[in-house]
Amino acid sequence: MTNSVQENVVMNLSDNRLMSEVVDVNISRRKMLKLGGALGAIALLPAAFGSRHAFANTNTSTPITIRKITALNFTSVPFSTEDRVIVPNGYSAKAFYAWGDPVGIVNNSPEFKPDASNSADEQAVQAGMNHDGMAYFPFAENGNEHGLLVMNHEYIDNGLLFPDGDKTWSLEKVKKSQNAMGISVIEIKKVNQQWEVVRPSKYARRITPHTLMTLTGPAKNNELMKTSADPLGEVVLGTMQNCANGETPWGTYLTCEENWSDIFVRESDNFTALDKRYGIMKKEKEDKYRWNEFDERFNTDKHPNEPHRFGWIVEIDPLDSTSTPVKHTALGRFKHEGAMLTLSKDGHAVVYMGDDQQFEYIYKFVSKNTYNPNDRNANMKLLEEGTLYVAHFKEDNTGEWRPLVHGQMGLTTENGFANQGEVLVKTRMAADFVGGTKMDRPEWIAIDPYQTGSVYCTLTNNSKRGTENNAGTDAANPRVKNNYGHIIRWQEKDQDFLSETFSWDIFALGGNKLKGENTVKGDDFGSPDGLRFDNNGILWVQTDVSSSTINQKAYEGMGNNQMLAVIPEQGEFKRFLTAPNGCEVTGIAFTPDNKTMFINIQHPGEPDSGVTEPDQVTAISPWPDSTGKTRPRSATVVIQKEDGGIIGS
Ligand code: FEO
Ligand code: CA
Ligand code: CA
Repeated sequence: MTNSVQENVVMNLSDNRLMSEVVDVNISRRKMLKLGGALGAIALLPAAFGSRHAFANTNTSTPITIRKITALNFTSVPFSTEDRVIVPNGYSAKAFYAWGDPVGIVNNSPEFKPDASNSADEQAVQAGMNHDGMAYFPFAENGNEHGLLVMNHEYIDNGLLFPDGDKTWSLEKVKKSQNAMGISVIEIKKVNQQWEVVRPSKYARRITPHTLMTLTGPAKNNELMKTSADPLGEVVLGTMQNCANGETPWGTYLTCEENWSDIFVRESDNFTALDKRYGIMKKEKEDKYRWNEFDERFNTDKHPNEPHRFGWIVEIDPLDSTSTPVKHTALGRFKHEGAMLTLSKDGHAVVYMGDDQQFEYIYKFVSKNTYNPNDRNANMKLLEEGTLYVAHFKEDNTGEWRPLVHGQMGLTTENGFANQGEVLVKTRMAADFVGGTKMDRPEWIAIDPYQTGSVYCTLTNNSKRGTENNAGTDAANPRVKNNYGHIIRWQEKDQDFLSETFSWDIFALGGNKLKGENTVKGDDFGSPDGLRFDNNGILWVQTDVSSSTINQKAYEGMGNNQMLAVIPEQGEFKRFLTAPNGCEVTGIAFTPDNKTMFINIQHPGEPDSGVTEPDQVTAISPWPDSTGKTRPRSATVVIQKEDGGIIGS
């Protein structure tokens, strides 16, 4: 998402360094130089020697299972400003399931109207706007060619959603805007080498800000969760601003509520400290979403607890289109980017999560109970109970996970946390209190399937690092005004996802070689966001340079947003894809055989301002419409090798 109202606004005004350690900027710069040198040397090691990992100060060697792919056998594509998806020779890229396409509900599949005149009810059964995180669930039979694709629709652009933008405003428009957010579940199938949406399908479903959901975990029934519509604090209508995602071994989808605070407005000045910490804002003349004008649930003067019911991880069972999604409060409340789940050796579910705003934190959740491969219903309760931790990165390249548990580390009633439910509703404040490390906008997190306990996180950028009254650099966030972002990684102690300590290093610092920022080995990039390992051990990185910076300013000469691949032991990035004008690349999913990759093109044609002028909808791009006439539409892109081979091989 490039046009959140708030992602470049600092909400974290805490001075949690008092609780942790005083950061010496000069020391951290020296450490960074040393670390860069060490990484350079290790990158020369051939993968076949991969019995050691590149973590500075790691005192145990951590064996790597040899990856299935150890060389990237495609030719990099150059930077591009062409208004199309470009992939290497030998690959094809085809768009399908664009915003407005019918999801495939039986007897209710209205076609997209190119002038954006579909009604709110029609939008409720069509693809939402701004495709984002995504997962593929293969069917047991022929799963490499037939399964379910589940994806988020992160936000909406009123200028594109309506023929006249928001020049007029009505309840019908609010409903259409709401119905364009949420999640799609579609059935897809490969027929004659081409993937298509199966319509109708009993699995087809849209989940929106109106879908009934239940709450679980310590914040269920909490005083802060109760509203006039839900006096017990246990059911919520809907999910929104769904950004990145996760999936579970028991076949459910995790969707993550990111910039939900953009939706809520307050007309009075009665802000609580909690409102301020999460960015509930005063009603502005140019309020972007305007839902509150016809749906008072989003007016926080009238419903002050309603915002507390957003900012969670939601679990969805895609196999049952009548199932009720569940908001798991045990995983904390913040601006959730993604939820990368793995199992520890003894079967605990471990979920890594980022809070995407400047100077916010990285979290980990560990379930109390363990996975049972024979009991799906029990597994679907695993995320209801467990321990949430915040990451503290130390200057010596070690770190620790600090628990957010009521009664521990000062999280007490006297300090404003009456119970564990409150600790979770106020997750950011609890993390401030125990001394989380303020990061440069944590986005996606990926777990290396070939090295147990090795985890990567994109820190997309932070132009405010080290400026004015904001936090200065530290070893984990080493650059003042971090324009290009970086990728950090950590190795859990003893290769155990349950460990409360880890070692870490910086895997890559983004940069633009044309501007003398020669920090990336191989093809350069900035603003890393989407991040995922495939089954063969390749790490894929997608960029989200904001529309106001694409190919200009610090990013001059770098063209449109892109996707790259890297094998960790080599550390050399290769550009695999360049995207249309005005979009970001996000969402990554593969078939089990890795012969099909799905990605999303989000907000093609978005102007610098982030909001489309309704009479100039094709000014930047009409993608994917090849005639160039209709408005641009976010869409999924299917990538295959023309010889039917494995992606990246
Ligand atoms: Fe929705 Fe942080 O990207
Ligand atoms: Ca993102
Ligand atoms: Ca982003």
